[in-house]
Amino acid sequence: MNQAINISELPDFTPYKIEHLPVAVELGSELLTVIWNDDANSEFHYLWLRDNCACAGCVTPLSCEQVFEICDVPLDIAPSKVTIADDGRLLVTWDNDQHISRFHPGWLRSHCYSVQARAKRYQAPKIWDKARICEQLPLHQYEQVMQDDLALLDWLRDQRDFGIALIKGVDTSVGTVAKVANRISFIRETNFGVLFDVKAKPNANSAAYTTLRLPLHTDLPTRELQPGLQFLHCLINDAGGGESRLVDGFKIADHMRQHFPAEFKALSTIAMEFRNTDKDSDYRFSGPALVLDSKGDVVEIRLANFLRGPLDLPAEQVIPFYRGYRCFMTLTRQASFQFYYRLEPGDLVVFDNRRVLHARNAFDLQQGERHLQGCYVDRDELMSRIRVLERVIAIPIA
Ligand code: OGA
Ligand code: ZN
Ligand code: ZN
Repeated sequence: MNQAINISELPDFTPYKIEHLPVAVELGSELLTVIWNDDANSEFHYLWLRDNCACAGCVTPLSCEQVFEICDVPLDIAPSKVTIADDGRLLVTWDNDQHISRFHPGWLRSHCYSVQARAKRYQAPKIWDKARICEQLPLHQYEQVMQDDLALLDWLRDQRDFGIALIKGVDTSVGTVAKVANRISFIRETNFGVLFDVKAKPNANSAAYTTLRLPLHTDLPTRELQPGLQFLHCLINDAGGGESRLVDGFKIADHMRQHFPAEFKALSTIAMEFRNTDKDSDYRFSGPALVLDSKGDVVEIRLANFLRGPLDLPAEQVIPFYRGYRCFMTLTRQASFQFYYRLEPGDLVVFDNRRVLHARNAFDLQQGERHLQGCYVDRDELMSRIRVLERVIAIPIA
């Protein structure tokens, strides 16, 4: 039975720009080649195309969620007919049931999965050492970030790429950090609160709330998901000492992979133990310090010396682990990798807590107080906000 073409053709909320049009198609045994008007070619498997039909029967329009299931069509599904409409839409009629799929050229082109297209889409992090970050530290202004969505997007892209940015001129009243974080989205609450006050406190339940030096670390490595962005807003800094050090963990991992491959392997495969306990809580996590994705790229660093528990490993892994751990920590101590900075009142430093390690020198309260306010926002929220802001920018302004 012939089905009417349903005009729904986009399976998400992104306004895809049409920059290229298909001019011809070639049908192979299991895939279709689209030839574009800039001479580029894209190959799409029939199964992939059928799976991505965006018609209102396959994707429910309000939520843009797929209702079609690929196991409901034959594995060897193929088109009985393919045409290119005058407006550049690709119309595919399927051989098993004459279902018709309509593909928007902007959507189709931006989902091409050729080696070149995938390489072009990959956004490599901008990895830094001291020299690079001293020259290129992303600096943003509080008023602009709060009022202007373009300035917000600019900041968030830096945050994504460099894993660090400094916002200047932030109102030093208590709670302002939450307003900035809310420009992205929800704050991630933890047992330290929605916001946490970093200052010397009686009965401190964290080394952070003493005047002690904190070695380079990520926060909450004790959790299954470490918080993504960490915000530290300086309200008062009259104390002596307390300077900040930040290190791009991805840079150290890269250096290690190149120069100390055995140590890199150990630290990316051998699980460490992390612990954080107080009278009301007992958080523990076990996992490697360097987390790799399915391609072998480092996507996360998990390390805090003061939140470690006793190793629980097969005996033959103990010495390799210590070699790897000592190697990483020794490298982070090299000044050439460190961004060294003294926070001033009105500064808000935001960094990717799953990438950038942070430290502070000990401070003394003889000369005055030191008070930072902090909070966390997950990486997912950052990426989602960037994409939503980019939707608006992708629509050409008339
Ligand atoms: C923290 C922390 C840094 C500082 O609270 O986790 O690392 O500069 N603070 O006090
Ligand atoms: Zn469909
Ligand atoms: Zn910390």
